[in-house]
Amino acid sequence: MAKAWGGRFEGKTDPRVEKFTESISFDARLAAVDIQGSQAHARMLAQCGLLEASECEAICRALDAIGGEIARGEFPFRVDLEDIHMHIESALIARLGDVGRKLHTARSRNDQVATDLKLYVRSAIDQVDRLLTDVQRAFVERSASDLDVIVPGYTHLQRAQPVLVVHYWLAYCEKFARDRLRLADCRTRVNISPLGAAALAGTSLPIDRDLSAKLLGFSAPAGNSLDVSSDRDFVIEFTACLALIAAHLSTWAEEWILWCTTEFGYLKLPDSYTTGSSIMPQKRNPDVLELVRGKSARVMSAVPHLLTLVKGLPLAYNRDLQEDKVALFDALDTTVACLELVPAIVAGAVLQRDRIAARLEEGFLDATTLMEYLITKGVPMRTAHETVGKLVALCDSKACRLVELPFADLQIACPAIGSDVSQVLGSRNAVAALRSFGSGGRAAVTEQLTLWEKRLS
Ligand code: ARG
Repeated sequence: MAKAWGGRFEGKTDPRVEKFTESISFDARLAAVDIQGSQAHARMLAQCGLLEASECEAICRALDAIGGEIARGEFPFRVDLEDIHMHIESALIARLGDVGRKLHTARSRNDQVATDLKLYVRSAIDQVDRLLTDVQRAFVERSASDLDVIVPGYTHLQRAQPVLVVHYWLAYCEKFARDRLRLADCRTRVNISPLGAAALAGTSLPIDRDLSAKLLGFSAPAGNSLDVSSDRDFVIEFTACLALIAAHLSTWAEEWILWCTTEFGYLKLPDSYTTGSSIMPQKRNPDVLELVRGKSARVMSAVPHLLTLVKGLPLAYNRDLQEDKVALFDALDTTVACLELVPAIVAGAVLQRDRIAARLEEGFLDATTLMEYLITKGVPMRTAHETVGKLVALCDSKACRLVELPFADLQIACPAIGSDVSQVLGSRNAVAALRSFGSGGRAAVTEQLTLWEKRLS
């Protein structure tokens, strides 16, 4: 078949070059947005007198039919047609002849592929946002029944202070909320139309870029054809958003992997999300969580891939940009695959209440609250810190907990300590004492939980 761009060529393209330069093997998934973009372009051309109304209708109808064939897997793809744009246009020409040959008026594949990608990324943003909401909901939905559970909070992976376990659940909701805000912000820059920028310079034909932008739901047409026909900032921004989501999922997965160990014993994953060992009959492995952690590497690697891709490119379009899709699609598919599994894991994991409670008094989780108690008695913070440090050392030497120290020992360490100290000792009391906004204590956590329930309803 003759190439759409073949007019000035005499020799045929080497088949190895066709194989090397094709993108149909990975850009076929742009078919639906390519058709959407072409139909808007045709309608705009008709409004501007560059197509007859009947020609526009014929084009739109034929594009629908082609889209249907592609969606049903009935459409043959071939490397000599390079990419999805050429496949659809040549199918259109095969059906409509000269009318089909008019569609590419005032358009280039450069603004076309940029438009397609923006439409694609825009709906990907909406999809990822929905999936993130599902994950947030899963954490919030189990929270009411987990409100009685106190766990150690850690810094440096060392026991630090006790918090309600729901404080952990809502911590992840916060992270995913920031991810959603980032996506929404990224969407505002995605939503600017490249269509009509043509190859790089715009066109001498009387087109209406506002109209095609509006028909596609873009907020405005881009003001510089050189820039927008070659801009891939939005792909980089979006994959950077995905990379951060992947980082959040990975830290969550790592935490739950730890919590599922015998050493921690805080959580049990549902059987349906656990795998066994081919040699060790007792094993229940958190492979899904490990792969959520592992697959984050693929998502993150899209960002350096894309930055490296664009860093040396002069304006405007360069064929290098074709490689943007490989990174984008892999990062998106991987993130979506992870996000789709997370809600069921979150909902199905069972807190091992007895095991958590059995060791909740280990690790001096109440030391900081004791120090704060001393502060309320007028002891300067640094002095209070040192005093409690010494009491902890005393406990170490006696192999006991702070709450088990004789009252006399406490009074020797600091005469300001009164009998009301018992109210802040022990992990339960330590959590009950937490009162600041955003803290891991009951009042603050239930306040936040109520807010989350409202936000997600
Ligand atoms: N397949 C190309 C891509 O993905 C489409 C644009 C080709 N443009 C061109 N002038 N050769 O970037």
